Amino acid sequence: MEQQLKELQNQALEQIAAAANLKELNDVRVAYLGKKGPVTEVLKGMGKLSAEERPKMGALVNVVRETISESIEEKQELLEAAAIEQKLAQESIDVTLPGRPVKQGGHHPLTRVAEEIEDLFIGMGYTVAEGPEVEQDFYNFEALNLPKDHPARDMQDTFYITPELLMRTHTSPVQVRTMQKHEGRGPVKIICPGKVYRRDSDDATHSHQFAQIEGLVVGENIRMSDLKGTLDMFAKKMFGEDREIRLRPSFFPFTEPSVEVDVSCMCGGKGCSICKGTGWIEVLGAGMVHPNVLEMAGFDSNKYTGFAFGMGQERIAMLKYGIDDIRHFYTNDLRFLKQFSVHE
Ligand code: FA5
Repeated sequence: MEQQLKELQNQALEQIAAAANLKELNDVRVAYLGKKGPVTEVLKGMGKLSAEERPKMGALVNVVRETISESIEEKQELLEAAAIEQKLAQESIDVTLPGRPVKQGGHHPLTRVAEEIEDLFIGMGYTVAEGPEVEQDFYNFEALNLPKDHPARDMQDTFYITPELLMRTHTSPVQVRTMQKHEGRGPVKIICPGKVYRRDSDDATHSHQFAQIEGLVVGENIRMSDLKGTLDMFAKKMFGEDREIRLRPSFFPFTEPSVEVDVSCMCGGKGCSICKGTGWIEVLGAGMVHPNVLEMAGFDSNKYTGFAFGMGQERIAMLKYGIDDIRHFYTNDLRFLKQFSVHE
């Protein structure tokens, strides 16, 4: 019987060693240690043994059972560890694979142009001022030397909300509001970006809603030459160092004298479709602040002078990027907008 038990143990240990996975190992456990297994069978036959043999055989059976059981546990640990290793190997990440690019949006071309203009003027000591888009007639017109029934009001066809309230037609009312806040004390040096509205018919160069940027400098001894120098600097930084500006006489009720400012075309003056053969492109209106406007805003026009200018952001962006239709800015065509995305 002792010999039989030894053989049983050796057989079990061989099969445990040969088990290739947890299922096979479990089959070995059931086969040897289960209720119908040979070890249990031996235990059942213990009753037939003599009183001297019984404890000896009992101890031996226990040793065999323990040995098989421990061996199964060891093997189980090994197989479990191997299973985890295998799983990890299958799930491993290949860090050398190239990543998928994250799609990012870019700033709208109008935002980019506005920020570029703002940065440029902030660099020259200007601060940014803002005002309401729904404006009082007083700030949009009257305080800018445009009393009611003044014929020049027709230059800016207006969306009225009530007889005294309107959608601002330009950013110039922010000039007035800012000057009022200064209570007659200079210097004032601001730029005012913002949306404006006019009852213009939409076409390639006109929109009923567009954006302007206004500039205003008020101080002692501010001259026309300061305006010219400032705008020359603006044109060179915005469009290229080789660009020049030209001032042409014009009329705005809030400036005297008033000028239209042209920038030399990228064709170098030869004449092309963009400048319609003239070599110059009109970019903004400007002038010396009218003494009436200074006085109405609380400034002594004998002590203070100033210059102001106003430009359309869309027109500047069109010139800078060679865009031929203002409506591209508002129709959200991704093929157009993606050209301005820095990330793609
Ligand atoms: C004015 O609005 C003046 N407030 C500018 C100014 C400020 C002059 C300070 C003197 C001193 P004007 O109406 O020309 O001026 O408009 C200024 C710019 O706005 C134009 O040069 C043009 O670029 C742009 N603009 C005018 N109307 C439209 C429109 N319907 N669509 C798009 N851009 C427009």
